[in-house]
Amino acid sequence: MAFIVAIDGPAGSGKGTITKLVGEKLGLVNIDTGATYRCVTLAALQKGYTLEQEEKIVELLNEIQIELKKENGKEKFYLNHIDVTDEIRTPKVNAMVSQVSHIPQVRDNMANFQRKMAEGKDVIMEGRDIGTNVFPNADVKIYLDATPEERAKRRILQNQEKGIESTYEEILENIKFRDHNDKTSSVAPLKQAEDAIYVDSSHLTIEEVTDKIIKIIQERREKK
Ligand code: DC
Repeated sequence: MAFIVAIDGPAGSGKGTITKLVGEKLGLVNIDTGATYRCVTLAALQKGYTLEQEEKIVELLNEIQIELKKENGKEKFYLNHIDVTDEIRTPKVNAMVSQVSHIPQVRDNMANFQRKMAEGKDVIMEGRDIGTNVFPNADVKIYLDATPEERAKRRILQNQEKGIESTYEEILENIKFRDHNDKTSSVAPLKQAEDAIYVDSSHLTIEEVTDKIIKIIQERREKK
């Protein structure tokens, strides 16, 4: 029977990195749910739709085809049979994806799609509402968190690597603003599932968090 691991948490908590590492070590298929929202956003941009054209974006859901394929060990996202793995990470998509992911019909459609992608597989999925909405019966649920201050420090380092200038204060403010929006959103608010295990990564290295989560998963897997 399929085994499902759900990793939820705020932006900058390290979910993406940790999910990838844990998935590789335990042989679980890694399904990046954020990327599915990014594909819908890219499709809307390709059509020239703006956020004011919510109905048009919803109509698009019946026209587009999103696929996840593993190629040379890497997960690739295809939109209408074209590889868009890099294109879904561009600033244009970044600027619009949060709003697109909050359109209720988009959420319902993508949650169904995410369930379908996981069918019959042992998966690890990261997102905002995997343990609460997409897979409320997941075998393991982790809520990965870190303090806003720690997440701001990590973001500064990422920006430096990319050559983007930013100050600690503005990033911290932005993180707190996003947290507030995510947690109070009327559509799929970010919250810890009651049966999720809380992991605070603030004072842990990537390796320590990975080991901790692997241990939790292995214990559950042995019992299944
Ligand atoms: O993790 P990411 O940056 O690729 O996510 C892109 C956007 O989609 C981000 O604004 C959060 C949102 N998202 C969501 O609402 N629910 C998910 N399960 C995954 C992502």
